Amino acid sequence: MENNGDSLLSKSVGEIASENPEKIGIFKKYGIDFCCGGSKSLKDACEEYGIDGMLIIEELNKACNLEADDEKNFSLSKKVNDWNVNFLIDYIINIHHTFLRIHIPEASEYVEKIANVHSNRHPELIKIKELYTKMSEALILHLDKEEKFLADIKTGNSSDTKKEIGDAVYYHEYVGHILKEMNFLSSGYSIPPDACASYKHAYELLREVSDDIMIHIHLENNVLFKKIG
Ligand SMILES: [Fe+2]
Ligand SMILES: [Fe+2]
Repeated sequence: MENNGDSLLSKSVGEIASENPEKIGIFKKYGIDFCCGGSKSLKDACEEYGIDGMLIIEELNKACNLEADDEKNFSLSKKVNDWNVNFLIDYIINIHHTFLRIHIPEASEYVEKIANVHSNRHPELIKIKELYTKMSEALILHLDKEEKFLADIKTGNSSDTKKEIGDAVYYHEYVGHILKEMNFLSSGYSIPPDACASYKHAYELLREVSDDIMIHIHLENNVLFKKIG
């Protein structure tokens, strides 16, 4: 839907992403943080990233509805604000938490492997391995804690919802910060010309994990927590 530029610029990035998930691709294209940084207005985000506001409005207005090509991207083709809390919780846990529980250890194995073999020529791999290890340890703890909290929300037994949300947002910011650093160190997971098959696979996995975490955090910070907070 066409949107007046000024009204869109004054909206928060997270609000735009939750109301119109088809616009997320444009945020990703320009590297605009729509998950942990979702509370910023589009105007402030454009200023921070040095992007011409009118250019982005034009692109956002052109963004079309997406066809979901798999269950992981299903939420990108739907009006997630219309989902009820229980459905949203089940979706987040069954799709995004399950994805991480499977792929975190797989990516860990490959990141370790390429850091051991290729760090002479690619010293950034050592730092990426350290960051990834810190992030995965924090994430596993977070998933366990969050699942307990979300189970309490479903049964109406949550005793301190605001504190639980505050804790979750804190973890999300920590993880989001590490993702940005890894993205910077790997130049956006660009595969170097001398990369072997394991190197390519490791970077593909890291990119997939990173993309998934961003949608996951967006669904929690900008959609679910707004409904229950
Ligand atoms: Fe989660
Ligand atoms: Fe979370």
